[in-house]
Amino acid sequence: MSEMNAESRTRLNRMPEWTALAKHREQLGQTHLRELFAADSGRGAGYTVKVGDLYLDYSKHLVTDETLGLLRDLARGAGVAELRDAMFRGEKINTTEDRAVLHTALRAPRDAVIEVDGENVVPAVHAVLDKMAGFADRIRSGEWTGHTGKRIKNVVNIGIGGSDLGPAMAYEALRSFTDRDLTVRFVSNVDGADLHEAVRDLDPAETLFVIASKTFTTIETITNATSARDWLLTNLRADSGAVAKHFVALSTNAEKVADFGIDTANMFEFWDWVGGRYSYDSAIGLSLMIAIGPGRFREMLDGFHLVDEHFRTAPAEENAPLLLGLLGVWYGEFFDAQAHAVLPYSHYLSKFTAYLQQLDMESNGKSVDREGNPVDWQTGPVVWGTPGTNGQHAYYQLLHQGTKMIPADFIGFARPVADLMPGLEAQHDLLMANFFAQTQALAFGRTPEEVRAEGVAEELVPHKTFRGNHPTTTILADELTPSVLGQLIALYEHKVFVQGAIWNIDSFDQWGVELGKVLAKKIEPVLTEGTGGEQLDSSTATLAAEYRTLRGR
Ligand code: F6P
Repeated sequence: MSEMNAESRTRLNRMPEWTALAKHREQLGQTHLRELFAADSGRGAGYTVKVGDLYLDYSKHLVTDETLGLLRDLARGAGVAELRDAMFRGEKINTTEDRAVLHTALRAPRDAVIEVDGENVVPAVHAVLDKMAGFADRIRSGEWTGHTGKRIKNVVNIGIGGSDLGPAMAYEALRSFTDRDLTVRFVSNVDGADLHEAVRDLDPAETLFVIASKTFTTIETITNATSARDWLLTNLRADSGAVAKHFVALSTNAEKVADFGIDTANMFEFWDWVGGRYSYDSAIGLSLMIAIGPGRFREMLDGFHLVDEHFRTAPAEENAPLLLGLLGVWYGEFFDAQAHAVLPYSHYLSKFTAYLQQLDMESNGKSVDREGNPVDWQTGPVVWGTPGTNGQHAYYQLLHQGTKMIPADFIGFARPVADLMPGLEAQHDLLMANFFAQTQALAFGRTPEEVRAEGVAEELVPHKTFRGNHPTTTILADELTPSVLGQLIALYEHKVFVQGAIWNIDSFDQWGVELGKVLAKKIEPVLTEGTGGEQLDSSTATLAAEYRTLRGR
């Protein structure tokens, strides 16, 4: 890490590699993807990379061989590989929290050795995975019963942010691999409606609550968990002894778990070197493991590991996370792209982009560098998107003909999931025809001449013209399996890492979420008791007063 220290690091936008890119951008000017494809008939096959089961096509990007070379030079100059190796070694690269960043250890094989503060963490990782597997099997087999002796049929995960989005997303993604006899729900919002809708039709005697919180202090989660405990005990007409059969905890904080009343024997541990948004392959994945079974969970971890190894060892030219990260840096700074769309053509990936929003935006939504200086360059984009083809009938208009440049990732699968009802499989080709058509339309558009040639009235020509030149990555895999999901998530995790490394920001802290929490604590008594309003600004004080009036207080 010596070459990474503050004294020797040149500010990103003063690096010669950065200046070279700026110059190259000028030379590229308005070059159109149509020209790039016309100049090289092998572009579609050549600008691709394969990682495990993922086939990535980056030919529809505004890059040439020269661009890619300059971007790789930037990565080299910024020390991406050194920081990557430091992360994999367990060094404390999350400097503002003085923590190692070792989500990669969560999917390391049993015989790996990864040390934090001189201690190999891999045996503890596997001990927890084994404990999770034993528990998941007992729930799935019916061996674990509730307080009244009934079999557990419902699992309600209570958590928020990284303790919700990952398992909730993966549960949806892997629905076809889940035990369909189990009802699995995810509660995150402190809005009581979330818990209400999750439990209103459940039998408490058959319900297990999985309380997922790294810190076990998050107000939303503890509030919901307390309400869930009240609901359970009231409806079971039981005393707190029943909690042991219906509540388990996923946390790093045994003390707080015990304070809540959950037996720490029913706690599944993880560690401060696992960031919340990087945690769903830790104990935080317990609800998912119950749903899909330990074997499928392991397949998912192996998928993650495959991409970890690729990221760690593949040469820069073939390194997929490096490439995706660099493309994002290219558009953010040199094309002023403010947003990035992730558009999965799979109904099962309906929560994928919401998950990526936390992964990307909580990691790279920063505006000071590692040394605390304001950055003079763009950092993380606004990440958004929903599954295709729905978006095509909603916001794709802006992608095609709006004034903004929004690079997009299209994710699709050659095969539908295995257990679709007979007849539905045929719809898959239509879905995928749309998938391919959209990236084609975005890249190449339709020229005024092409529109005219179709006999369109002259006054409508501008309206029917598509300028194209919108960059996209296509990620294609055979099928959405647990392993493929792990591969996809690791791909994005490392992409985010690459960008943070280049922008020289700490991608692993999240101080920006704290202020709102502090202020909410101050505002709550204003709403409930009407005290302290005078300390608020005039807008918030007036709004709080209006709220109290509406509540009849
Ligand atoms: O407030 C943000 C955050 O800290 C996220 O980073 C985290 O994933 C989430 O809250 C939940 O935290 P916890 O798992 O400690 O309840």
